[in-house]
Amino acid sequence: MTEHDAIAWPVAQDEEAAVAFLRRVAPAGCRALELGVGTGRVAIRLAREGFDVTGLDASAVMLEQMAVKPDGERVKAVTGDFAEVAVEGTFGLVYAVQHSFFLLRSQEEQVRSFQKVAARLEPGGAFVLQLFVPDPNRLIVPQANDVLQIELKQVVLRVSKYDRVTQAVNRQYVVMTESGTKFYPMVFRYAWPAELDLMARLAGLELEDRWGGWSQEPFTGEGSYTVVYRKPVGK
Ligand SMILES: C[S@@+](CC[C@H](N)C(=O)[O-])C[C@H]1O[C@@H](n2cnc3c(N)ncnc32)[C@H](O)[C@@H]1O
Repeated sequence: MTEHDAIAWPVAQDEEAAVAFLRRVAPAGCRALELGVGTGRVAIRLAREGFDVTGLDASAVMLEQMAVKPDGERVKAVTGDFAEVAVEGTFGLVYAVQHSFFLLRSQEEQVRSFQKVAARLEPGGAFVLQLFVPDPNRLIVPQANDVLQIELKQVVLRVSKYDRVTQAVNRQYVVMTESGTKFYPMVFRYAWPAELDLMARLAGLELEDRWGGWSQEPFTGEGSYTVVYRKPVGK
């Protein structure tokens, strides 16, 4: 985990529930692929459960941190872009957690990723995404400025510009301390559930379920949700 990630992505404490969910929807002991595996927070636990796990990430630094974690070597690390999914073989489970799928910055990349994932899935295999529904209130104005932290010696701001046509968000976390100001940039593209369902359909995948969380809470559109797309058998 880099300093950037610590600021921009407060670490979820949901690994156990995530692994229990993934075990439920995936064929037992199948090959599994995590898109944007990072330092293996979820993938290492899944490997401990007997899955043959591959982790794809654009950042060699993240993959190096995974390799030195206990059991990190149990996850096969591949450096690459998950818009392309250039990995060997097929999988019974492909998944991306912590909203990582939205780090693909354009609709074109997101559509391509769905198609590449579908091509790597075995018939009956599952594509699982943990995402959020964008808050329409934040999209009323094209810019949002939030103060995340005010402490005696540190102020953290989050400034975001929303492009409502492309759905791209250009964001900076600005950390101000006595010793200076640091910038942590991030660009992502949000997509509505209906658009994701359409991407799945274009790729030949079927919507199976959408839950309000890993413990199969009802889906309300608040907070993080989990969606399962399945590759039909016989196609
Ligand atoms: C929010 S972190 C999540 C890491 C890990 N899955 C977890 O839950 O702790 C997102 C990860 O996606 C990776 N990433 C972002 N865009 C990517 C891309 N286009 N292709 C591959 N990896 C990407 C980043 O390097 C980072 O490790």
